Amino acid sequence: MSHVPGIAVIGCGRISRSHLSAVSSQPELATLIATVDSDLRLAQEAAARYGAQVALDSVEQALARSDIDAVVICLPNHLHAPVAIQAARAGKHILVEKPMADTAGDAREMAAAAHEHCVILAVAQCRRHFRAIRYLSDHHAQFGRLISAQVSLGVYWPDAQAEWWREADKASGLVVALNGPHALDFVQMMMRDDPLRVHAEAVRNNDFWAGEDEAMMLLAYPGGRLASVHLSFNQRPVENRKVLVFERGTAVVEHDTQLTFNGDLLVAQGDDEKRHYLDEAIEFQRQFREFALAMAGQPNHSVSADEGIRLMRTLDAVHQAFRSGETVALPGVVKDAQSADAVP
Ligand SMILES: NC(=O)c1ccc[n+]([C@@H]2O[C@H](COP(=O)([O-])OP(=O)(O)OC[C@H]3O[C@@H](n4cnc5c(N)ncnc54)[C@H](O)[C@@H]3O)[C@@H](O)[C@H]2O)c1
Repeated sequence: MSHVPGIAVIGCGRISRSHLSAVSSQPELATLIATVDSDLRLAQEAAARYGAQVALDSVEQALARSDIDAVVICLPNHLHAPVAIQAARAGKHILVEKPMADTAGDAREMAAAAHEHCVILAVAQCRRHFRAIRYLSDHHAQFGRLISAQVSLGVYWPDAQAEWWREADKASGLVVALNGPHALDFVQMMMRDDPLRVHAEAVRNNDFWAGEDEAMMLLAYPGGRLASVHLSFNQRPVENRKVLVFERGTAVVEHDTQLTFNGDLLVAQGDDEKRHYLDEAIEFQRQFREFALAMAGQPNHSVSADEGIRLMRTLDAVHQAFRSGETVALPGVVKDAQSADAVP
């Protein structure tokens, strides 16, 4: 790589530590130029800890700098689209935290801005960068046809973990927007397709936030394949389990890091994968390496804007399904439903 890109991490809250560590620990890939937060104290603390050259309290200041080539957006959900579009117009490459945007429409505008200004737009789906998940993505053909996927992602939050979680318009709802992208990105990756129909129910059990904190969804895919997803902010102990029924047997992924097939261990959790995702986790280092490869025009495993838009379409359908109480058929793939989704 001839030019080592300069990076600004925008938003220095909970998730930023893993991104900051990913950038600053790989100096051959990038230089951490700036930390940015509207709370300047947070930006300064992050700059001191991770060795950024400057701490800034405005996005505009960062985007005006010519030594910054790319931004990592770690802002509350509702700011992803406007700041990504601003960054694209300033000619900066973008790695944006999940969810990519509030809606698929916003995600499309982000992608259009990135395309127009010839910059990379990648979505941070950190869980794709665990070894077990990468193994499944690369080797699943050996298990035969995928018949169904069941994903459970349950955590316990006794209160909002950031103030913006309390407001549904800042958190794009709640659990569906925050943990839905983790679960549904996995399903999308394994199905290598978009759902034809989405059924969903979601409820709120706690009044310290306005959005939904428990959700269940059922998705029908072309070829008669099915997926179920359970998301909870009320579950303890934590559950993070994926069960994939294939023609030749069943794959089970625990905590994204351990993979078995018909009970045989295929991928064990690595010692380097034991850190919490909010605390300088290894999968973020791998994710940033893929983003750096994308910026250098080399083959990479970044989650592309197109994949991000597809995921946002599914998330929109989930929101629509539980708000309306109706099954939602996805626009654009409905026509295939008559031919492709019949149970064989
Ligand atoms: N990949 C994961 O596993 C994971 C985990 C947690 C959060 N996230 C995502 O990361 C994003 C941030 O979440 P978080 O938990 O770190 O939130 P947070 O509230 O802890 O951090 C957000 C930071 O943005 C700053 N900020 C807000 N508005 C700003 C503005 N206009 N300009 C500059 N700074 C501003 C806030 O001061 C705060 O420090 C969310 O989109 C969330 O979905 C991803």
